[in-house]
Amino acid sequence: MVQRRIAWAGLLLLLLLALAACAPPGQQAVSGELNLLCTPQVEWCEGMKAEFEAKYPTITVNFVRMSSGESLTRLRNEKDNPQFDIWWGGPIDSFVAAKQEGLLEKYETKSQDKIINKDLMLDADKYWVGIYVGSLGFATNTTSGITPPTSWDDLLQPDLKGQVMVAHPSSSGTSYTALCTVLQLRGEEAGWDYLRQYAGQVNQFTKSGAAPARFTGQGEAAVGIVFSHDIVAQIEAGLPLALTFPAEGTGYEIGGMGIIKGAKNLAAAKLWYDWALQPETQELGPKYKAYQAPTVEGAKASRPELLEANLIDYDFEWCGSHKKEFIDRFTNEIAGAANLKE
Ligand code: F6P
Repeated sequence: MVQRRIAWAGLLLLLLLALAACAPPGQQAVSGELNLLCTPQVEWCEGMKAEFEAKYPTITVNFVRMSSGESLTRLRNEKDNPQFDIWWGGPIDSFVAAKQEGLLEKYETKSQDKIINKDLMLDADKYWVGIYVGSLGFATNTTSGITPPTSWDDLLQPDLKGQVMVAHPSSSGTSYTALCTVLQLRGEEAGWDYLRQYAGQVNQFTKSGAAPARFTGQGEAAVGIVFSHDIVAQIEAGLPLALTFPAEGTGYEIGGMGIIKGAKNLAAAKLWYDWALQPETQELGPKYKAYQAPTVEGAKASRPELLEANLIDYDFEWCGSHKKEFIDRFTNEIAGAANLKE
């Protein structure tokens, strides 16, 4: 009996060793942990953890879901003793800022060859890369009696006073994308003036960018400003929402990924990075209700129509470099960030 147990244990050990040895050519077998800072919707984070662990059974992924601004603050605070190995998701404005602050690790890899638009989606110095694309839209509760807005000015109509919901730009990359879109569309002076009026329409700022789609669908507001893929996910979940876009132009995100400077599990972080740039991996999104468009050749978009809106020529470098300054201005002069909803 004891001998049989020892034989089984030996077999199990051999199996684990064999699995660990199944690394792609040119890569060494890696085992241990991977600490993932995950900014997309939690369902997708959970799905990606499970998919990665199924492919690399000797690595355990520990993830925390945090909005973009919160993530950036966390990385700044942990700069001397980083707790995360890789940051996956969230608009690249924050990755541009993180790179400038020395929070990211350069990584050059063949997987980057597949990026469809390297000028836009791959940092010239290889500190971050784009992993998905999504456009900003308006979610209107169809039982509210409000005609779905089709311009930024429509959000200022008197009927929408206290009826608009959006995240706060200090915590959310979605909301920062909206802020920087307005500044680019209108110019800085008129843009700040618009933002003051727009903030006056908001009933409550949320922490996470996607939350206003759900709250609007549940009747807590008439209109939410959210990435269109998050609105689609709530429509699919059965909420009474209509998706519209501002005709004069809307902003969009390139979701980013970057290895954290000083990552303790660097080899595992590189494995995740390379895996996340495979077309099969990027096509996993819809399985977890994530409808962002992929960034690599060979991966098909599940909702290509979401990028057919009138997208502005969003300047990620400009928005990323001014992120701290613009958020401080919004927080100090327009709306504070205390008591954010969810
Ligand atoms: O919910 C998914 C998502 O919209 C991503 O596409 C985006 O990068 C992220 O959330 C932004 O989250 P937040 O606005 O909370 O920073």
